[in-house]
Amino acid sequence: MENRSSKRILVTGGAGYIGSHTVAELIRVGYQVVVADNFSNSRPEVLEALHKITGVAIPFEKTDFSSLNEVEDLFAHYQFDAIIHFAAFKSVNESVQRPDLYYRNNLISLLNLVDVALKNGVNKLVFSSSCSVYGDPDQLPVSESTPLKKAESPYAFTKQIGERILQDYTHDGTLQNIFLRYFNPAGAHDSALIGEYPLQQPNNLVPVITQTAIGLRPSMDVFGSDYETSDGTCVRDYIHVVDIAQAHVKAIDRLLSLVSTKSLTEIYNLGSGKGNTVMQVIHAFEQVSGQKLNYQIKDRREGDVIKVYADVSHAKKQLGWAAEKSLHDILLSAWNWEKALEIKNKKQTTIS
Ligand SMILES: NC(=O)c1ccc[n+]([C@@H]2O[C@H](COP(=O)([O-])OP(=O)(O)OC[C@H]3O[C@@H](n4cnc5c(N)ncnc54)[C@H](O)[C@@H]3O)[C@@H](O)[C@H]2O)c1
Repeated sequence: MENRSSKRILVTGGAGYIGSHTVAELIRVGYQVVVADNFSNSRPEVLEALHKITGVAIPFEKTDFSSLNEVEDLFAHYQFDAIIHFAAFKSVNESVQRPDLYYRNNLISLLNLVDVALKNGVNKLVFSSSCSVYGDPDQLPVSESTPLKKAESPYAFTKQIGERILQDYTHDGTLQNIFLRYFNPAGAHDSALIGEYPLQQPNNLVPVITQTAIGLRPSMDVFGSDYETSDGTCVRDYIHVVDIAQAHVKAIDRLLSLVSTKSLTEIYNLGSGKGNTVMQVIHAFEQVSGQKLNYQIKDRREGDVIKVYADVSHAKKQLGWAAEKSLHDILLSAWNWEKALEIKNKKQTTIS
């Protein structure tokens, strides 16, 4: 892709976990980026870390996408060539307790963004979707044409509805969508300057493992050991966050190079294509870190999909993207990040 330096990309939720890694990649390959976030699940210090990694002072706007006025203000100040929309709430468990928060934040933000973008002539959008749109799939691996089953949580439903809204909006004749359905993003940047650092307690497996290993949790729970899998625990497709970030660069390159100005929607699974059980990940982490993990086997947890992993052939063929990093890379980078966070937080405690 030529001329990246003349293209400005809006990254909503760019201070968050996947957003920050994507911003680093976009800048590394030469794009201009504007980050907009309301810090509802991230911290301003991520922007300093991005400055250190990229050497660029990245324009930042504090914007709540659920406020139409704030979104209009943002577009009044900048002209964008394309958008990557990460800004959303993402906790499956919380969405079951507080569906109102999830429908309001995830759907109203999306509607505000797409309405204002189209009004301002911006028609190229990458949408953060999720493998949770497949529900509990009948066939494995899941491909983009695998039928979507019932969403298992309000969070997953916001992703199904979000995709549907954007697909329906292509009726305007110009909107060009790429939906990226992430499987299980994990790991951190090689610099250990950015990684998963939410305000909420993380409940994804890899940060729970690293927090247990560093002593932030006395032990961790493994939910269910009698599933029909190789060792009885659930199977997921873990994918390095930097691989995911690179797929966003490919998606933006593709949208910007499209000759046709007509509406379209393309969908890509982003996974490694491999399934690993919870116990395989725990053992792999013990090898990578040289630490024994304290874990307890608990009953099955309601709403857990037993087994899911991606067919990634479509992304490879059409986007020219495939995961390059292994489970070992994921766990090593996540562990380095957890150790770097501990040092940073100790320093802050000593200073204050
Ligand atoms: N991490 C995963 O496991 C995973 C898997 C599949 C899909 N996704 C999706 O990818 C996207 C990014 O996920 P993440 O893991 O980086 O989450 P994250 O919480 O780290 O990042 C989301 C960012 O969006 C911001 N945000 C939320 N609501 C906002 C609003 N109304 N206005 C402005 N900013 C807002 C938060 O402050 C945060 O910085 C989300 O849409 C999520 O649903 C994540």
